[in-house]
Amino acid sequence: MPFPIRSRGVAALTALGLLLALAIGSVAQSATQPSTARTDPAPDTLFPNQGDPRYDVRSYRVRLHYAPETNRLEATATISARARHRLTTFDLDLEGMKVGDVRVDGRDAAWTRHGHKLVVRPTHAVDGTFTTTVEYAGVPREHTDVDGSTEGWVRTPDGAVALGEPVGAMTWLPSNNTPGDKARYTFKVTAPSSVQVAANGNLVARIRHGNQTTWTWRATDPMSTYLATIAVGKFTIYKSRTKSITGRRIPLWSFADPTTDTSATLRDVLPEVIRFEEKRFGAYPLASAGMIIDNARVGYALETQTRPFYPYGAGVTTLVHEMAHQWYGDSVTLRDWHDIWLAEGFATYAEWLWGAAHGEATPAVRFDRLYATPAENELWHPAPTEFVDPADLFGTPVYTRGAMTLQALREKVGGTDFFAILKAWAKEHRHGNARTAQFVALAERVSGEDLGTLFSDWLELDGKPTGY
Ligand code: TRP
Ligand code: ZN
Repeated sequence: MPFPIRSRGVAALTALGLLLALAIGSVAQSATQPSTARTDPAPDTLFPNQGDPRYDVRSYRVRLHYAPETNRLEATATISARARHRLTTFDLDLEGMKVGDVRVDGRDAAWTRHGHKLVVRPTHAVDGTFTTTVEYAGVPREHTDVDGSTEGWVRTPDGAVALGEPVGAMTWLPSNNTPGDKARYTFKVTAPSSVQVAANGNLVARIRHGNQTTWTWRATDPMSTYLATIAVGKFTIYKSRTKSITGRRIPLWSFADPTTDTSATLRDVLPEVIRFEEKRFGAYPLASAGMIIDNARVGYALETQTRPFYPYGAGVTTLVHEMAHQWYGDSVTLRDWHDIWLAEGFATYAEWLWGAAHGEATPAVRFDRLYATPAENELWHPAPTEFVDPADLFGTPVYTRGAMTLQALREKVGGTDFFAILKAWAKEHRHGNARTAQFVALAERVSGEDLGTLFSDWLELDGKPTGY
């Protein structure tokens, strides 16, 4: 049985009222939520209200029924997790949707909702591994970001596609919605047999029963919630494989909306892009690859794990960018959203490498041209890791100054050490989460040079770094 939703009681505040409400709020807070223990990882510094550091999800099993005409889904999520210490209550992130039964280790649990927090109170405290089952249903909301972009469960003319960066996964999946908690996923999606279903990983079953078909996708590589995707709609499916530099066969699953199928160029070049990036970044880190090209009216592509999403009409440079994310972003994932240059700076640098190999300017020339940008330009403000506004998450400093940081590193340590650093980074942190300080330490270890000033100039200094 759900608890009644407790009001936060912080409306209509005077200055004194604010102090009182904060005091009361913190008492009420500690009554329901035990404070985090010293062993818990810190919450994300950009989105501190996402995720719950007190437990670690091992796997999500999502059974989902979807009706494209109404955009309604009915789902059960089974979440296996490990509590870092004894918990009498824990949170999941879920925005919108109607919640039905919540069970913990098979017993009905009490729950309340506060904004996007689904607060679960099991009948018995959990410690160590525990399994939560959440039944939920409804028409998922799209989530609008502070920069005005749309994510979450995004409607298309014939279905929907789930795009989770940075926080949109909570619109369709009750989850520990923070990049530091990677897990394995199974998606069992039932939809009318007239549509197709793509997701991350490998398709392991497709079973037709009457006019419905159940598609089972399994993503066995650890994955952050923002990289999880499901796409339902009319798709042409292209199945092939390519060979990794290790000799392993990589299955390729590509799904393209037939009304706007611009996939031929991208599908043709994909094996070449994988080889190009393997030579520079090391072996492809994931179980499969491919793409989803759909008619979602969002202005971006997204590096959804193993199967990036592209709006139709996306070109080869975008493919190079999203594929580079499979190493940098997906396999090696930022620990904190403030480290996002570790994804976007690297993916942008991959575009520069590809461009140079295809008759465009070299990274050195691009760097020099960009370096001539006047000091007041937005390229230089705020520094890549120093933004405070989530609207700057996808800003020019993160992408372009982030890529320039890598070129500055290359010019300092030389090409041989530079590519050794890129490869070691992908290898040592494969399937993990990492921070900027760890990258700096690794670059110093490989090159034997002191790189503190270079990285603080390029990543932390507000304004244009001098002397480069
Ligand atoms: N991470 C995506 C990429 O660069 C871009 C992206 C995702 C984005 N969501 C966004 C950009 C919202 C701007 C706004 O591949
Ligand atoms: Zn990117």
